[in-house]
Amino acid sequence: MDDVIRVVRRRLLRWYKKYQRDLPWRHTRDPYTILVSEIMLQQTQVERVIPKYHAFLRAFPTVKVLANAKTADVIRMWKGLGYNRRALFLQRAAKVVCDEFSGVFPDTLKELITLPGVGDYTARAVMSFAFEKKVPMMDTNHRRFYTRVYYGIKDVSDKDLLITAEEVFSKCRAYDWNQALMDFGSTICLTRVPKCGICPLQEHCKAYPKILTSKVFKKKKKKQSVRFKDTDRYYRGQIVDILRGEKRVLIHSLQSRFSDIDSIRFNEIVLKLAKDGLIIKGRKYIKLPQ
Ligand code: ADE
Repeated sequence: MDDVIRVVRRRLLRWYKKYQRDLPWRHTRDPYTILVSEIMLQQTQVERVIPKYHAFLRAFPTVKVLANAKTADVIRMWKGLGYNRRALFLQRAAKVVCDEFSGVFPDTLKELITLPGVGDYTARAVMSFAFEKKVPMMDTNHRRFYTRVYYGIKDVSDKDLLITAEEVFSKCRAYDWNQALMDFGSTICLTRVPKCGICPLQEHCKAYPKILTSKVFKKKKKKQSVRFKDTDRYYRGQIVDILRGEKRVLIHSLQSRFSDIDSIRFNEIVLKLAKDGLIIKGRKYIKLPQ
């Protein structure tokens, strides 16, 4: 196992040196900037994030600026990224850093996890990408890599994968290793159609060649899925989008713009948006939080 670990490590890092993507958040170690990128990347693809990341940081260049910004402006800057609650969490995290950590980002997993919107994965990402700490990460790319290379095509718990990860990268720069797995997972070790033919780890991968004929890749019969336009998330996004362009909106007139849903559902959606803190609801009007 030790030999395999060593060879895989060497080959993967060599591959990364040659093929790494030039992504803007790899040019900084500022924890605030890294957190912004990681929150954006949670549910949005890299290409879509890049321009938004630059625009967001132009508007809110430091944690202090973000903490003191008008929440409405933060939500406006989030346009196009989806899952708007992330914008709220990001600003709440900035406020906690300013209020409870005197504006200095904490550099332990335990403290980072206390920030709103920061779960285990994101805390590890900040530890690794901002503070260059030797902390294993487990996003879908990492998970796929560790499982396939070291276990084959079975399911393995994150707990076991994290132990494997610790062992594997104990002797290399955790920063490069964790970034390398991001690129490897999104260009070579793809979920459904892995490019084993050009994979530098092919001969050491436990999943190869079984993986190519494994059931995992048989296209799953499409589930009877709900169209996005029929989900509450769609209407939530639409309502917030309308508010981005207006100071306030009359609830009654807003409702007439959503004639395809009944008033009970419309009201529930509005109430939930208010409960989440994404809008402020008065008796007649709604607006973005100021
Ligand atoms: N997704 C989450 N973090 C990432 C990173 N640092 N690079 C590329 N994709 C990512």
